Amino acid sequence: MKLRLWPQSLVARTTATLLAVLALVQIAGFTITALDRIRLQRFEQGRHLALRVMELYITVAKTPAEQRAELLRILKMPAGFSAQLSDKPPASLLISPLEEQRVIRLNMALVPMPHELRPSEVSLLGSLQEGRMMIGLRLPQGQWLDITATIPSPRPWYAPGFLIAFVVMTVIAGGVIFWTVRRLIAPVATLAEAASHLGRDLHAPPLPENGPTELARAAAAFNQMAERLRRFVQDRTFLLAAIGHDLRTPITRLRLRAEFIADDELRTKILADLDELETMVQATMAFGRTAASREPLAPIDLAELVRTVLDEVGDSKPELAENLRYEGPSHFTVHARSVALKRAVANLVTNAAAYGGGARVVLHPPSGENPQVRLEIDDDGPGLPPGDIESLFEPFRRGEDSRNRETGGVGLGLTIARDVVREHGGEIILSNRPEGGTRATILLPV
Ligand SMILES: Nc1ncnc2c1ncn2[C@@H]1O[C@H](COP(=O)(O)OP(=O)(O)OP(=O)(O)O)[C@@H](O)[C@H]1O
Ligand SMILES: [Mg+2]
Repeated sequence: MKLRLWPQSLVARTTATLLAVLALVQIAGFTITALDRIRLQRFEQGRHLALRVMELYITVAKTPAEQRAELLRILKMPAGFSAQLSDKPPASLLISPLEEQRVIRLNMALVPMPHELRPSEVSLLGSLQEGRMMIGLRLPQGQWLDITATIPSPRPWYAPGFLIAFVVMTVIAGGVIFWTVRRLIAPVATLAEAASHLGRDLHAPPLPENGPTELARAAAAFNQMAERLRRFVQDRTFLLAAIGHDLRTPITRLRLRAEFIADDELRTKILADLDELETMVQATMAFGRTAASREPLAPIDLAELVRTVLDEVGDSKPELAENLRYEGPSHFTVHARSVALKRAVANLVTNAAAYGGGARVVLHPPSGENPQVRLEIDDDGPGLPPGDIESLFEPFRRGEDSRNRETGGVGLGLTIARDVVREHGGEIILSNRPEGGTRATILLPV
């Protein structure tokens, strides 16, 4: 199973990783501090215990032996302490850890008292960690004073403001991490945005080449790539226009020479071929002009554009006017180059009218899972010629019915349409409808 919690965006991932590291560091710091505090508190407890025990011992030792039992009965003990007189030292299985013994004995020795009063023997049992200690001190007269003390467990977190400081520190560090990551990663989104923009508009303004070195280099490389692409497209377009232009002269010459052909039939055929050649050259040059034109992207009403195209096609073919229909919203705005896009739609509608006897254009606005506008141009004709549908997009590719018709086209209609739509960042798909006829689909980003 894929980890669902793992976020998708780079900002979220980097932030999550850094926050996890921050949490680990904080926990480690917290633990180190707590262990240190526990050690300090144990030390303090040992000292406190030693002082209280010695106070008690001195009071008892200074009292005559026969009054000691009575004294212990009425004496107010420190919290958690109890004491009794006995003939033997206290008994327990647990001898106190050496480190604790050292601390307690040292602190006992530091309490000032006359030499003859000092306990001749001290036995330490239990441990601070266990929470209970038994201390036996030998009184000058040979009796033992057995003291039992309950020791509270250490409270490493108990310090005013400690937890608040910790939370504030974590929140501030988290905020700084989030802010920095967002700032550092923002240019990646800009780069992606620029790349998708370039797909639609080859003449989009270049990216600013500033900021951190790596990003500036990426921006510069991107700008260079865009420049090369522009030059490549420009060269191709110029070449096309130049060939088209230069072919016109020899064609005119050929036409003049053909007039001298004596054979009537041959002359007519050659002139017809030359006509066709000339149409192709003109179409090629027109194609070059569209590609070279730098019409700006602007908001246009796609529904209105489709209706205009249908009207114009209807005007040129009045007998088909009834079969040209539009379905969809009465207005829908897209960002596009209006002349070029109109040409693309017109080419598809003309094809539907020419080969399918009519066109039904349906506009589907973007829906939830599909963020693009879909324009479907359907006809009820014979459908696309069998074979490679993709090849119909190639320049000068025509089907048999186009060739056979007297007013057959050149074979550039689909090429131009696809060029235009792709320049808008969209796509054209041709297919045969299951119920018969052709469907041309234009997908356009809004
Ligand atoms: N709606 C359609 N139904 C059937 N065949 C089609 C349809 N649209 C295009 N075709 C086929 O695809 C070929 C290429 O179309 P394209 O529009 O590129 O060229 P054309 O229509 O022949 O010439 P032009 O459009 O340049 O005047 C056509 O010749 C035709 O055979
Ligand atoms: Mg056509």
